[in-house]
Amino acid sequence: MTNDESPATNDQPPAPDADPLWYKDAVIYQAHVKSFFDSNNDGIGDFPGLTQKLDYLQGLGVTCIWLLPFFPSPLKDDGYDIADYTTVHPSYGTVDDFKAFVDTAHQRGLRVLIELVVNHTSDQHPWFQRARQAPPGSPERNFYVWSDTDTKFPETRIIFTDTEKSNWAFDPVAKQYYWHRFFSHQPDLNHNNPAVVEAVIDVMKFWLGLGVDALRLDAVPYLCVRHGTNNENLPETHAVLRRIRRELDAAFSNRMLLAEANQWPADVRDYFGDGDECHMAFHFPLMPRMFMAVRQEDRHAITEILNQTPDIPESCQWALFLRNHDELTLEMVTDEERDYMYQAYAADPQMRVNVGIRRRLAPLVENSRRRIELLNMLLFSMPGTPIIYYGDELGMGDNIYLGDRNGVRTPMQWSGDRNGGFSRADTARLFAPPVVDPVYGYQAVNVEALERSPFSLLNWMKRLIALRRQHRVFGRGTLEFVSCSNRKVLAYLRRDADETVLVLANLSRTLQPAEVDLSSYSGLTPVEMLGQTEFPRLTGDRPAFFTLGPYAVHWFSLTTQPAQLAQTLASPDQQARPAVAEDLPALLLGVNWESVFDSAARRMLERHALVPFLARQRWFASKARRLDAARFSDWLVLRGGASPAFLTTVTATFREGLPDTYLLPLALVSGEPAARAIADTPAAVLARIAGARKGLIVDGALDDDVCMRLLEMCDAESALPSKYGTLRGVRAAGIVLPAERKWVRSGFEQGDTVASLSDRYALKLFRRIEPGPNPDFEIGQALTREKFPRTPTLAGAVQYEGPGGAEPATLAVIQTSVSNQGSGWAFTINELQRYYERVAARISRRDSEMMDATEETVRANVYQGIKRLRELIA
Ligand code: NOJ
Ligand code: CA
Repeated sequence: MTNDESPATNDQPPAPDADPLWYKDAVIYQAHVKSFFDSNNDGIGDFPGLTQKLDYLQGLGVTCIWLLPFFPSPLKDDGYDIADYTTVHPSYGTVDDFKAFVDTAHQRGLRVLIELVVNHTSDQHPWFQRARQAPPGSPERNFYVWSDTDTKFPETRIIFTDTEKSNWAFDPVAKQYYWHRFFSHQPDLNHNNPAVVEAVIDVMKFWLGLGVDALRLDAVPYLCVRHGTNNENLPETHAVLRRIRRELDAAFSNRMLLAEANQWPADVRDYFGDGDECHMAFHFPLMPRMFMAVRQEDRHAITEILNQTPDIPESCQWALFLRNHDELTLEMVTDEERDYMYQAYAADPQMRVNVGIRRRLAPLVENSRRRIELLNMLLFSMPGTPIIYYGDELGMGDNIYLGDRNGVRTPMQWSGDRNGGFSRADTARLFAPPVVDPVYGYQAVNVEALERSPFSLLNWMKRLIALRRQHRVFGRGTLEFVSCSNRKVLAYLRRDADETVLVLANLSRTLQPAEVDLSSYSGLTPVEMLGQTEFPRLTGDRPAFFTLGPYAVHWFSLTTQPAQLAQTLASPDQQARPAVAEDLPALLLGVNWESVFDSAARRMLERHALVPFLARQRWFASKARRLDAARFSDWLVLRGGASPAFLTTVTATFREGLPDTYLLPLALVSGEPAARAIADTPAAVLARIAGARKGLIVDGALDDDVCMRLLEMCDAESALPSKYGTLRGVRAAGIVLPAERKWVRSGFEQGDTVASLSDRYALKLFRRIEPGPNPDFEIGQALTREKFPRTPTLAGAVQYEGPGGAEPATLAVIQTSVSNQGSGWAFTINELQRYYERVAARISRRDSEMMDATEETVRANVYQGIKRLRELIA
């Protein structure tokens, strides 16, 4: 037996995961060796088969594999009836096969969780055979719990109510009754006997020594017994667990114990101890309540149980699941709730077993993709570590006619081939028939088919898993319910030091409004996490309003500085409204505003207004560097009079690196235009004007007259002197002004600002000034000359000759408008996003039949255009 931790043993996954609390961030996948993949075609899944399929699990993105018992066993409880603790059932392979599996899993960064079933053994285990032969009171006999009558411990409930009438069974050899909490062929070990605990610890060390990362402690509440109790959760049992944990900590690091205690939260809490018993425990009562809440279209069942869930030690974690290899247990619900669940989810009595429902996830929700996604998104965002039951990521079905719980343990469905690709054995030889019904059968529901379709449940699950893994807050953050008057909506926050995530779930089958009080998060922007879409910034003055489609769940990261990857509905100005408007600096000016740049007022603007103004502009491209100062490096009057406008250049200096210069037209406005600017576009306001007349200094790109003057300048090819240089209009194709003149600005800016005139012309301002002609100008000019039809025609441009004789820079171009559905930037980002999703799902474009005709046509057109472009430019 090995229990040393020498680095030479290959029992540690790669270094990045060497965190002792790895299980908090894990995504666990529960599989059955028997059901996963049959490598030698004898009809039974095996370790070499499972090892071959690790590729699949790695691609799915899970981080830990939990295996059902794979030890020698008569298999009357599918392996939970163990006949030999320290080897492998011959049908599944050898200990060497197991080691090869563990090593391969570790090489791929996957942890391995196996079963430590020590509450009971099979009656075939040598310990039991020895015990029944040995005299009463002997050390061998005392490995199990015996009695001369079957009336002892009357307070103890029966768990397998369908098959067992008593927790005692008579053994004719021992001539005594033995104690069993489960099947009568599964005698309970006597954990009141220290020798049993010793023996069990040896078993634990054996498997941990082979590199196993974690152990699920089966049926852990029932280890010890005592007169006058119900024999569940006894202090003696907790003492045994503390002993097991001490032995584990003394000999191994980064391992984990997971308690299977089907109990109420307050009782399960004790299995964490003071962080000195189990690291994890299943949250049994939550599971049926998730199903109940969806059926009742009411969040109460979930909020109630989570509110009653006690805090657990820092190092501990809940294990969350929707389905597993057992029945959907209804032990942890009230009688009324149980009746409801049976009627809602198991109308056919054949679907019931013991105190529960023997069905898989997809059939439970009538194969509703929306409800499957809803439940999974809740599972993946509630406090704890999620567990996926094999096949549920495909939407596999069950076979309620297979007896006991075998209906949910059928062969994994890999392809549409014979036996679902699970085995090449004759179908009759399989350990169980694969699911073949028309809805859930392997012909339709299989890995190969679902991997090919980008919108399949499987590929959606991959995206969900990947997203969850990117955000530690799900595994580690706190939970807080958010108030929302609509009970069909469940709203909560997950929070840690780095991130706040808002989860909104519509538990009903119809569209729902959700008004949620997020006033304490005012100023933050919700960004939907799957699509990176920004929503309107949260304000303190009113609740946030969301519309949730049927069964919709959304995760929003509440961020201070959105990454601006996707199109936003809210304009940047709208988002910044409250904070900016209050903090605007005020400038005292006389009656004449035309001289503002030739006075001390310029310095005031530089000192108090420019830096924060630049920082809030989308087009300000240098956000990654620390902005030190900004000054007006040149200016000219574009419009005189009571509301003058200027064209300025602003030079920004940074802590590190070279300065940058930006184009900033400015307009000084009062009255109605000023009121509109502060209400609609406060982020584009540079300062307030106080003094003799009140007004605002605003970004001139929002001033229609400023845009019109630039247009006219090009057409007239006029030149305007600035303080230190010259501004020059350049005419290309020329401009024919429309009769009706209406300027519209695009809400989504990157480096440039675009204003369109009556769908005829687009004025594009290049904010960052760089010497030399802008490619839009240079290439546009050449192509316009050639009358190239596939790009917008260049009508004109504005060039700037700065001080010091540098090459003239292009400040703006005017092009003919091309009707469109969005910007090239948004299009590219969306396309890239879809591309990465396909990569993540490993769908090759050729395999996928998803490439639709429109996309093909667009592409062919683009290719042709590029070809012609090359010829022209060459
Ligand atoms: C709990 C397991 O999950 C179940 O499958 C098994 O039948 C019982 N323990 C008894 O071993
Ligand atoms: Ca096999």
